[in-house]
Amino acid sequence: MVKVINWKPGRTFNEFSLLTDLTTENTTLDNISLKTKLGKNLTLKIPFMSAAMTSVTGEKMALALGKAGGIGILPVKYSSEKQAKIVSKIKDQDLTFVEEPICVRETETIEEVIRRIEKHGYSTIPIVNKFRQLLGIFTQEHYWKMNISTEEKVTKAMKPIDELKEKTCFNPNLTVEEIKKQLMETQEKYIVVLDEEKRLIKMAFKQDLEDIKVGVAISTYLGWEERVEKNIQAGADLIVIDTSDAYSEFAKDTIQKYKNKGYGAPLCAGNVITYNGAKYLMEAGADMVKVGMSSGSICTTQREKATGRAPMTALLETSKARDDYFNETGRYIPLVIDGGINSSADMVVALTIADVIMMGGYFNKFYEAAGPKLDKNNLSTTDESKMEYVETWGEGSEKARNLGRYGHSTKKTFFPEGVEGTVSYKGRLKPNMERDLTKIKSALSHIGSKNLEEFRENSILELNSPLTSQVVSNPHNINIKE
Ligand code: IMP
Repeated sequence: MVKVINWKPGRTFNEFSLLTDLTTENTTLDNISLKTKLGKNLTLKIPFMSAAMTSVTGEKMALALGKAGGIGILPVKYSSEKQAKIVSKIKDQDLTFVEEPICVRETETIEEVIRRIEKHGYSTIPIVNKFRQLLGIFTQEHYWKMNISTEEKVTKAMKPIDELKEKTCFNPNLTVEEIKKQLMETQEKYIVVLDEEKRLIKMAFKQDLEDIKVGVAISTYLGWEERVEKNIQAGADLIVIDTSDAYSEFAKDTIQKYKNKGYGAPLCAGNVITYNGAKYLMEAGADMVKVGMSSGSICTTQREKATGRAPMTALLETSKARDDYFNETGRYIPLVIDGGINSSADMVVALTIADVIMMGGYFNKFYEAAGPKLDKNNLSTTDESKMEYVETWGEGSEKARNLGRYGHSTKKTFFPEGVEGTVSYKGRLKPNMERDLTKIKSALSHIGSKNLEEFRENSILELNSPLTSQVVSNPHNINIKE
């Protein structure tokens, strides 16, 4: 006789709607923060983590996401040397000038500058004349505060050069070290370097001085201690035990040994899908718990062996463990939801409970993903204008054969739990992610929360019937223009 049958079906993100609450003066889009605290020494500017997958997170992805304020997790399939080398490179990033920044001519409309911003993801655009002489700077932040139609000329919405509080400097030979000093000493967000004719030469941004966060995955198998040691020395900000089922004595042992070493970087352990699994890892000493099984876009675990759980149900159950553990000990253990998040609406629903979201398929679509890019004939290409698809594969696929993640100590017992395929190419990470972050901020604004902590406390979700999901969550009764 089976021990328990749960007759309540598991739920996923897009089965829920978020109810609105009072939007206040303090909760308009430009004063909402998406910061998330994951540990004593680790706060992210945005609650995004890229999956520890060989098709997703390599050096380019970890750097791009880290620069944008999230964190990439380097896969355990990489050798410990390769992980540590990438970590060192990312942590040692130095300020560089943005040579020949993307500019817009003074004759263009606001519409055009916004289009450029959306394509490239830069929010600060110099406005120049035909001699490339700087006339002013357009920033989205400044524009949002104005009530001007996008059909107007960009000069109406820019800050003219003589009103800029940021420094313009007329010495093209200024060194990186000198610029760094200036940026650190002032409140300014950037410095513009011009020649004697006021022509724009280069820019430097304070944001590029900020510490970039990066994490690495480990397994519970032989050699994990050495892997940790190398990566901690290289400067890793987060260590992630990445196993498909972490409700195990091996995970507990790894957590306890790690914590005994007293490393500064927090330890995230996962994955689990039940209250008991999450509580077990918390009691073992994990600083963060990662949730999800069978919901990944490339995952066949449920099909092959029936284990897994719908992600919202897994998150709801594990969050009860987070609450109970907090009430018992005063320790708040952030939850990472991992797998199955495909849209900004999914992200919003996930963030009503989770502290951070880990995504594979979402990041796989971008230029910075580790997977090779393909043209329309499925041939490999490095020409950005020809990219149509990106290769993807699961860590449990034939291609990756990440034995440790799926509990195999030898190749003999391995069977695939993930597929290989392609996803449609979507362009660069920054502009795409900025759009989704704005949508998340907009959701917070609707319910009157100025940060994610308030959002988790204030959100009210409502379950939709299958019919409601079809009709209310999607356009209907029209022929949609592609
Ligand atoms: P996605 O965001 O829906 O693509 O899910 C990403 C997550 O799927 C990863 O972070 C892993 O937890 C999980 N995953 C990665 N590879 C495999 C696999 O081969 N089989 C099952 N799950 C996988």
